[in-house]
Amino acid sequence: MSGSGEAELLHTFKGIPFTTRSSPELLKSLDTFDAREDDVLLVSYPKSGTHWLAGVITKLYDTQVTVTSPIELGDISRLEELNKLSSKRIIPTHLDYNMLPPNFKNKKCKMIYISRNPKDTAVSMFHYYRDNPNLPTVDSWTAFFDLFLKGNVVCGSWFDHFLSWEKHEDEKNILFLFYEDMKQDLPKVVKEITLFLNLNVSDDDIQDICKKSSFSEMKNDTEKENSDPSHTVCALTSNRKLIFRKGAVGDWKNYFTPKQNIRFQEIFNEKMKLSKM
Ligand code: A3P
Repeated sequence: MSGSGEAELLHTFKGIPFTTRSSPELLKSLDTFDAREDDVLLVSYPKSGTHWLAGVITKLYDTQVTVTSPIELGDISRLEELNKLSSKRIIPTHLDYNMLPPNFKNKKCKMIYISRNPKDTAVSMFHYYRDNPNLPTVDSWTAFFDLFLKGNVVCGSWFDHFLSWEKHEDEKNILFLFYEDMKQDLPKVVKEITLFLNLNVSDDDIQDICKKSSFSEMKNDTEKENSDPSHTVCALTSNRKLIFRKGAVGDWKNYFTPKQNIRFQEIFNEKMKLSKM
């Protein structure tokens, strides 16, 4: 990384790079966070489709729910604000499983982990680094590719993040979803989510929700809205306009050189050898 002061924008907590939008005091105090049994966690590595999933989930409830800002965003006073919310909470987070407040685990809160082909995630994150003033500047795709593979990016290694959650895949309170499945058959994935969350939503309503959650609809909605500072579910920006870029599967093919692809595949095979993915 180079250019606009990495040191001022990032800090490391428990070996993982965070932006200064997550204060060290807040990160330290997460262990004491008081979860509620009916909290739903929306978990992802950045750029995996978190906003898409959040957009779908909020449309499934006919009772009042609040999608909070990410649990790791802000300073210590944020935890108090979250405690005060009286409605049901849907809480987004990019935290690694090991950093998750233990209360969510003890209370067996429902958690949905969304993942995406790491090659497309890397490309999406490269653009995010370029457009997002909260992240250090990167000189080129080649430079970013190396940082991503080494895990020297915000939220750390994609592989470590995924593996930390995948270990818990069989737990009944955790649902694993893939961006590519949502692209292929959104109604099917939405049905799966309703079953997991015990929500009664008709097939017609599911179809309608899927239409309203298409990339173009969500992008247009965002362009019409005024920039609401609490309007992202990503701790790395409040600017929703940075989120909706291309929304495609396979964009990595426009960026990876054949050599980079081989290198990525070798590292993927090595790191993921015990993974079921
Ligand atoms: P691209 O940068 O590849 O376009 P997150 O919400 O976790 O930050 O992920 C952002 C990625 O999800 C971006 O990917 C964005 O375009 C994509 N995305 C957001 N809404 C989407 C939708 N409704 N359908 C498909 N992709 C969507």
